[in-house]
Amino acid sequence: MPKKLIEVALPLDTINDASAYDKMPGIGAHPKGIHHWWARLPLPTARAVLFASLVDDPSEHPDRFPTEEAQDAERERLSGIIRELCQKKMHLKQDVFKKAHEEILRHCDGKLPTVLDPFAGGGSIPLEAMRPGLPVIASDLNPVAVLINKAMLEILPEFANQTPVNPESKRRNVGQEWKNAHGLAEDLRYYGRLINEEAKRRIGKFYPSVKVNGKELNVITWLWERTVKCPNPVCGCEMPLVRSFVLSSKRKPNVFTQPVVERRREL
Ligand SMILES: C[S@@+](CC[C@H](N)C(=O)[O-])C[C@H]1O[C@@H](n2cnc3c(N)ncnc32)[C@H](O)[C@@H]1O
Repeated sequence: MPKKLIEVALPLDTINDASAYDKMPGIGAHPKGIHHWWARLPLPTARAVLFASLVDDPSEHPDRFPTEEAQDAERERLSGIIRELCQKKMHLKQDVFKKAHEEILRHCDGKLPTVLDPFAGGGSIPLEAMRPGLPVIASDLNPVAVLINKAMLEILPEFANQTPVNPESKRRNVGQEWKNAHGLAEDLRYYGRLINEEAKRRIGKFYPSVKVNGKELNVITWLWERTVKCPNPVCGCEMPLVRSFVLSSKRKPNVFTQPVVERRREL
């Protein structure tokens, strides 16, 4: 197996800076917005590591790079591609992915290897493998991770550039061209609204609004806790299994939940 670039040289400063940026909140639309996943690999790291693992280090080809200077120059050229892969807004830079694709193809004798990620999590590695056109197999033990990967990597590409099918958009946008995921997003908004309305109709009564200082307010978060029945025969209350009633102690005044005992009532 020839020695790969990743074993010899990497433009670490560029990869680190791009990866720190990738983790920042408020950088615009990003696949991480689909669902929070812990230990999600920053996309530039996944992109750079995949590329550098698939291209040979120039020292493996002394016929083409006979001197150290020639090898250094070739390493610098390959590192240049990694730097290009670490730019911002890569979804608008398809030419860079094409360049990476061609370079990988050259190093793999024209046959792209399949990338297997059995611990895919939030999907950074399969996503970045697919972008330069590598075949990918991804899986995970956790069904939530599988759903994230399925939505992002299987379903989304299938509906790319498609016209929305919901009746409202059909009526409003005759002849409009739908690019990328815009048509699917339009359908998700429409049918998501329908599901939301139906859910409110069926179970909304279990999520009442609250009165604060005489004002009726919607509750934005509900916390569910498991309960156990108190073994004291004269009590018999459903006791919440909570570690703490404090919700936030970072700012003053602290925010905490206040347990209110409700005797069993019919819902
Ligand atoms: C560190 S996370 C992977 C993060 C991923 N590289 C990303 O960028 O989002 C590790 C993943 O391994 C999964 N996992 C742990 N044990 C596993 C097992 N035995 N089989 C399959 N997946 C497993 C977890 O569910 C978790 O999603």
